[in-house]
Amino acid sequence: MSDLKSKIKNLREDFNIYKIDLQNLPTHPISLFHNWMDLAIEKEKEAIAFVLSTVSKDTIPSSRVLLLRDFDEDGFTFFTNYKSAKSKNIDSNNKVALNFFWPHSQRQIRILGDAAKIHEKESDQYFSTRPRESQLGAWISEQSKTIDLHFDFTAEMQKISSQFEGKTVERPKHWGGYKVNPLSIEFWQGQPSRLHQRVKYSICENKWKIERLAP
Ligand SMILES: Cc1cc2nc3c(=O)[nH]c(=O)nc-3n(C[C@H](O)[C@H](O)[C@H](O)COP(=O)(O)O)c2cc1C
Repeated sequence: MSDLKSKIKNLREDFNIYKIDLQNLPTHPISLFHNWMDLAIEKEKEAIAFVLSTVSKDTIPSSRVLLLRDFDEDGFTFFTNYKSAKSKNIDSNNKVALNFFWPHSQRQIRILGDAAKIHEKESDQYFSTRPRESQLGAWISEQSKTIDLHFDFTAEMQKISSQFEGKTVERPKHWGGYKVNPLSIEFWQGQPSRLHQRVKYSICENKWKIERLAP
């Protein structure tokens, strides 16, 4: 145990791989996000995984890992259960935070934005591309609900499979996408001596303002 504690205390990585070109920053942060994601897809195991933080109506924060399924100038899209704990939080407070951590690139991206459900047709379209087992899973899992310790998903899966046998699995109405329209995006690049680079884009009178932050 004390060996583990000392390993934790002494674990240090030197940050020295990339540098943000501060003289040539793009005017729109999505260009930089695109470039960083492009590299992350090559270098990282879970490039599209990010932490989503929400706040409940009682002001209790919570975070969980999700997968990014699309992005463009208007925002970042993920899919989930609309009755889940996170969705209930978003219903009462649509301000959310996204955090991507890409250790092999020594990079972090922090996004603050407003989450909104995407059009049903877009959710249908994405749902239709999911593997059949995942489509069926969306029908049987009441995400975030407390279930019996011995709850048998295999039996539920068999039931739902026979219900849809020979048919297309439709999207359940309680499952779909959210798009997060960004208000600010911070790019963090690890540097030697902990003098990391931080560049923050924020929406200011409908334009992106660029600032550098101290590490
Ligand atoms: C790598 C990874 C990817 C995940 N992707 C998703 C996802 O895209 N959508 C989702 O609803 N849950 C995803 N989860 C599960 C969530 O982390 C979480 O357990 C679930 O959404 C319930 O969260 P909630 O109770 O706060 O609503 C993923 C978990 C991991 C570890």
